[in-house]
Amino acid sequence: MNTKDKKSSTSQSTLPDDIERLMKKQGGFTRSDLTARKVSKKNQDSKQPQKNSSKKPAKAKEPTPEPEIVQEKLEEIAKERKIIFEPNPGPQEEFLAASEQEVLYGGAAGGGKSFAMVVDPLRYAENPNSNMLLLRRSTEELRELISVSKQLYTQAFPGARFLERDKTWVFPSGAQLWMSYLDRDDDVMRYQGQAYNWIGFDELTQWATPYAWDYMRSRLRTSKNTNLPLCQRATTNPGGPGHFWVKRMFIDPAPYGKAFWALDENGETITWSEKSKFAQLNGLVGKPMLKRRFIPASLMDNPYLAEDGMYEANLLALPENERRKLLEGDWTVAEGAAFTEFNMEDHVIEPFDIPDNWPKFRACDYGYGSYTGVLWFAVHPSGQLIVYREMYVSKVTASDLADMILEAESNEKIRYGVLDSSLWHKRGDSGPSLAETMIMKGCRWRPSDRSRGSRVAGKNEIHRRLQVDDFAGEAGLVFFNTCRNTISQLPSLPLDKNNPEDVDTKSEDHLYDALRYGIMTRPRSSLFDADTTGLRTGFQASDGVFGY
Ligand SMILES: Nc1ncnc2c1ncn2[C@@H]1O[C@H](COP(=O)(O)OP(=O)(O)O)[C@@H](O)[C@H]1O
Ligand SMILES: [Mg+2]
Repeated sequence: MNTKDKKSSTSQSTLPDDIERLMKKQGGFTRSDLTARKVSKKNQDSKQPQKNSSKKPAKAKEPTPEPEIVQEKLEEIAKERKIIFEPNPGPQEEFLAASEQEVLYGGAAGGGKSFAMVVDPLRYAENPNSNMLLLRRSTEELRELISVSKQLYTQAFPGARFLERDKTWVFPSGAQLWMSYLDRDDDVMRYQGQAYNWIGFDELTQWATPYAWDYMRSRLRTSKNTNLPLCQRATTNPGGPGHFWVKRMFIDPAPYGKAFWALDENGETITWSEKSKFAQLNGLVGKPMLKRRFIPASLMDNPYLAEDGMYEANLLALPENERRKLLEGDWTVAEGAAFTEFNMEDHVIEPFDIPDNWPKFRACDYGYGSYTGVLWFAVHPSGQLIVYREMYVSKVTASDLADMILEAESNEKIRYGVLDSSLWHKRGDSGPSLAETMIMKGCRWRPSDRSRGSRVAGKNEIHRRLQVDDFAGEAGLVFFNTCRNTISQLPSLPLDKNNPEDVDTKSEDHLYDALRYGIMTRPRSSLFDADTTGLRTGFQASDGVFGY
């Protein structure tokens, strides 16, 4: 038993060996497998007993001493040793010992999240097959991580080199850690064809959509027999443009700290596809694919800052919402939410069969690389709008989207559709626009209003619709509870910091845009409009639905 074993046994027995390796003394590791590596001679004390391994006895020159003497000696050494890194007990330790494929360490600022993120790859730095990637949103933010890594890595692994040009660490084993940024969605293409066993995202809510996180999952691979687990790790504060999707992916599905099978955006468990050879060979088809876990961080976990008091005092001085997010790591507070009036009681209803004679229409905001949001609306005879179906998909071509829409509404009569007007722009010199492609398939659209001020007007109109009518006791806009994505996105859509009249366009706003386009067609119902036969009569007041 070495000093480390002794030390850690008092705190947390689940701590894996790898972490213990990090807790080491100047110039050498406490564990034999690491001390076997070349360490700085200068710091080597001749009577240094880190050859205290059980599996590889030191070139035994002394007879085995009495256990008490060993104990004493170890304690003596422990005093002399300068431990370079020791996880803070609690969440930081849990994060560093986590075994789930996807783990988010999130919550209060100053909890030691980024620090842990930089330490985590060291668990695999001894494996020559290890190829790892640590990401931040921008290069400037990356610098902070690089500087922490420079303080830690060379001490932990003498001989580890940082290649400035490539921003890559090369460890003595040959293991590599790339430190990079990933700003726009297209940046993921840089990693096409690459394979990593460990990928980390620091400050995950800085990514407005889950696109990069989901894409990078496909880069997570190891070749056979490398003994490397696949890890995707993230840290973050609550808030930021990606608050909503991060919360939905990691925080909502299970109690804090509890591992759960990963769900897709429709709330279904992600399972192995029958297309996967690996799954076929291993009888995994249809079985849940990966586990996730959220580990909450609090400032109080980090004695390095908590004891200081100043930092806490600064956080306490922040406005309420900021404070709850940063100091308490509160995920329920959406940052400057645009639609604070939205709530489940007034705006979400159980689905019911919509009478055929209520006018129906749809609206769409299209994005191939990011997401496409389509919403279907029905107009209640009272004029209330009911959003009764949503479609939220990614990587679907215009032509396929048209098929999917027509299929979804095959038994319905849809009066009209409104689509982001930019889709009428031609893609090149020739060929139909995306809108025309869909229209040619029979999925008809009219362009949305894109005039100046239409964004703000649309937002105001949604506010107006969300109001609960005093007389009827009902809101002017309600959603079937099956419209999961819309219901979770709308209340956490952040306001634009520079223009509080509008929402932050960098956030996940495709369904919101679809809602806005739909609502701005000013649909309403009237007695004259109700088509009691359930069939098209051939004569309809053109402004009965559109209102203008
Ligand atoms: N286990 C640890 N050992 C030493 N210093 C730590 C440890 N955990 C955190 N710190 C220090 O605490 C400070 C805040 O940690 P940081 O990781 O930046 O917090 P966060 O990313 O959660 O806001 C940093 O200065 C960091 O070096
Ligand atoms: Mg941080």
